[in-house]
Amino acid sequence: MKIVLRIALVLLVLVAGFALYVQLGYRKTFDETPYPTTKASQDPEMIAHGKYLVYGPAHCANCHTDKGQEAQVEAGKELPLIGGFELNIGPGVFRARNLTSDKETGIGALSDGEIARTMRFNVNHQGEAIVPFMPFQQMSEYDMACIISYLRSTPPVKHKVEPSEYNFLGKFIKTFIFKPSMPTEPIPERIDADTTSEYGKYLAHSVANCYGCHTDRSLKTGEFIGEPFGGGFVMEPSPETKGYGFVTPNITIDETGKLNGWSEQTFIARIKQGRVHAASPMPWGPFSRMNETDMKAIYRYLQTVAPVKKTIAKSVYAPNEIELMPKPKG
Ligand code: HEC
Ligand code: HEC
Repeated sequence: MKIVLRIALVLLVLVAGFALYVQLGYRKTFDETPYPTTKASQDPEMIAHGKYLVYGPAHCANCHTDKGQEAQVEAGKELPLIGGFELNIGPGVFRARNLTSDKETGIGALSDGEIARTMRFNVNHQGEAIVPFMPFQQMSEYDMACIISYLRSTPPVKHKVEPSEYNFLGKFIKTFIFKPSMPTEPIPERIDADTTSEYGKYLAHSVANCYGCHTDRSLKTGEFIGEPFGGGFVMEPSPETKGYGFVTPNITIDETGKLNGWSEQTFIARIKQGRVHAASPMPWGPFSRMNETDMKAIYRYLQTVAPVKKTIAKSVYAPNEIELMPKPKG
């Protein structure tokens, strides 16, 4: 009996020690992550291009506006980026920051380097690795500077957003798994928009995040576990999706893929049509307002992506169908 008690005691100490370790350790920092040398400018052309990216392909406005403003953003209203939108997912509640130039609650007091480091590496101004929602690791220096220039040009709006909250699972992942997102190729200085598949690749991967949603990934760690653009990424129901669950479609040209047989015109018409499912997490509104150059480039790039044989039976699950939905992997 005594031995059993002793073992139980040792286990208890181990479990408590582990919990304490996670509790104390989850806010670890990655201070060695470099600050990009990006510099904001007052050049009107750069500010205009930054604004186009923010409300269009890069869709910062979809996350960095407030709860309850989704419909207006979707409809094209250029609301100030006051933050507050929440993403309720497995590891916790994540709140997008106020990006107006307010010094106290926005980015007014952050340096260009701090903002650029968040976008490039998913390391926030406090040095912590954040959930990798933002796919801008390979964004060109020029586009990054344009976006920061635009943010700096917006009037300050005082609007305090509470910090993100991690539950125990989140703290565990943050302690042991999260690290800065690293660029895998040299950062391009500037890529001018044109209709080539190279520019489309840049948009689909590093600006519009088509790759990030249409490739299967682990919901817990954010790591990619599926074939590029083969879909199958399970987005569980949440208050933001009004209880609907989504599985991203395969958007390759394979016969099992959505783009099978789509002409450039079909694709452009579909993107311009915008949202069909009210609660879909895809930022249809901002994409529908992209210019045709960008749409053509994305189409042409998707034509070059290796076809993935993968049938996604169903992409939209109503609240009463959730038990039929595949479980997220990893
Ligand atoms: C899919 C949603 C999403 C999109 C799109 C998005 N963000 Fe964010 N962003 C977030 C979330 C969530 C956080 C807060 C993360 C945290 O602190 O846990 C954040 C944090 C930030 C931060 C603050 C870092 C800090 O130091 O606190 C900056 C700056 C930022 N985003 C800039 C941008 C810009 C610029 C764009 C567009 C080019 C953008 N974001 C697009 C979700 C998004
Ligand atoms: C935040 C996640 C997300 C992002 C980013 C995203 N998608 Fe989607 N996409 C989805 C989901 C979920 C669906 C299924 C529900 C729907 O049709 O709205 C979908 C559906 C589609 C469809 C099928 C539409 C149809 O008529 O059935 C196409 C085509 C598509 N996406 C292309 C793209 C392209 C191109 C991009 C980048 C410019 C992109 N997606 C970015 C989540 C995303």
